[in-house]
Amino acid sequence: MSGFETYLLERTQAKDSHLLKVARGLGTYGALKKILDTPLTPKDVIEELKESGLRGRGGAGFPTGLKWSFMPDADKDTRKRYLALNADESEPGTCKDRVLMREDPHTVIEGCLIAAFAMRLDAVYIYVRGEYRVPYERLAVAIEEARTAGLVGPRILGSDFSCEIHMHKGAGAYICGEETGLMESLEGKRGHPRPKPPFPAGFGLWGQPTTVNNVETIYNAPFILERGAQWFRSMGTKKSPGNFLCGISGHVEKPGVYEIPLGMPARQILDEFAGGVWKKRALKAWIPGGSSTGFLKPDAIDTSMDHDSLKEAQSMFGTGAMIILDETASVVRSALTLMNFYEHESCGQCSQCREGTQWLAQIFQRIHDGQGRMEDIQLLEDLANGMAPGKTICALSDAAAIPTHSVIRNFKDELVEYVREGGHPDLRGKQPAVHQEVGV
Ligand SMILES: Cc1cc2nc3c(=O)[nH]c(=O)nc-3n(C[C@H](O)[C@H](O)[C@H](O)COP(=O)(O)O)c2cc1C
Ligand code: SF4
Repeated sequence: MSGFETYLLERTQAKDSHLLKVARGLGTYGALKKILDTPLTPKDVIEELKESGLRGRGGAGFPTGLKWSFMPDADKDTRKRYLALNADESEPGTCKDRVLMREDPHTVIEGCLIAAFAMRLDAVYIYVRGEYRVPYERLAVAIEEARTAGLVGPRILGSDFSCEIHMHKGAGAYICGEETGLMESLEGKRGHPRPKPPFPAGFGLWGQPTTVNNVETIYNAPFILERGAQWFRSMGTKKSPGNFLCGISGHVEKPGVYEIPLGMPARQILDEFAGGVWKKRALKAWIPGGSSTGFLKPDAIDTSMDHDSLKEAQSMFGTGAMIILDETASVVRSALTLMNFYEHESCGQCSQCREGTQWLAQIFQRIHDGQGRMEDIQLLEDLANGMAPGKTICALSDAAAIPTHSVIRNFKDELVEYVREGGHPDLRGKQPAVHQEVGV
């Protein structure tokens, strides 16, 4: 196994790591104490974050320090200010934030407090995926423990810094993880994403300045403040520094969540951490960063897991969640599963997404079932072109278009074979299903 410095999973491995007394023994709240004792100014903290080069781990990879600096000047804009911590984690394949919340809720809280100090916030709202029962309960208990210890609430650790933290259970929809859908849902409405601009920093929760960050992003903050931006930059790549949590799933021997420095080749993660493709089978396809990042061919498996390298490979780093498909898997069937998901999760506000996800699902279904036509391949492409990039209120439409394009670009032979031979191999020669006419 390759030797490299780790920090993201260290505290999660101690016995009872979710309890305050254990967490404190492991160093949690040390960075917050350092900030308040030194004392550092909010600007100093944002500068350190900027200097570290930390990029958001929620999917878009946006620089965190820069995002924090977008909040209006608290001396000039006296509205209430918030952090919405995005713990909705519903992207298929992604399962890293739940480990942090379940095993080390106090470092998540410390990260929120550091963000609150840096952006001079009044309160933090943690929006936890509804199905995450244990992570929710652990975080709720941890907040109460921290409050009793003077770490949450008024005059934290005897300083002038005060901050409230509130919990909210998610509404059971993928779209509630999109930052503006999340804010609508938190306000008690349907999780319908808002058109941008205005951006959350100017008009967020209840119309007040708000920053939305992912759990893993915030989890990095205490380590950066404790050990310094240069320490953080000593890991990962120049443009994507630090380690990340790689949730690897599908046809592997050892699925799980592993800590990896950004820039490690995907093959090394697959072989050294996940034990390789299961049953010693060959690799057929892989998805690098959660379901919206598309299907890549085996010849791309040497690509480094970082934002720039995956962009060059016509994909994205996304949430860093790898999904592995072995030689027996059907890419068409996997794409169909994903399209059914996106169709189900589209909130329906934009016609391209509402209709497009439905049509993509129906066309993949008929190709899968042996009712496809050669023109369907072009039809899939035209539909996906009409859905993305940037043609809708939020990126869910892109998230369906990207895997569609990737199947046409990288697995066109399989589409052609399904049309010629009568669908998925299990269905060939059987009674054909009846399909609705779509798009033509
Ligand atoms: C449909 C959709 C679902 C999303 N779901 C999540 C999610 O569950 N968790 C998350 O952190 N970000 C999710 N995002 C990304 C958020 O909109 C936002 O970019 C992120 O929370 C910002 O945090 P970061 O800068 O720390 O990465 C989603 C985006 C889209 C378009
Ligand atoms: S792109 Fe889709 S999910 Fe996003 S706002 Fe439009 S209809 Fe809703």
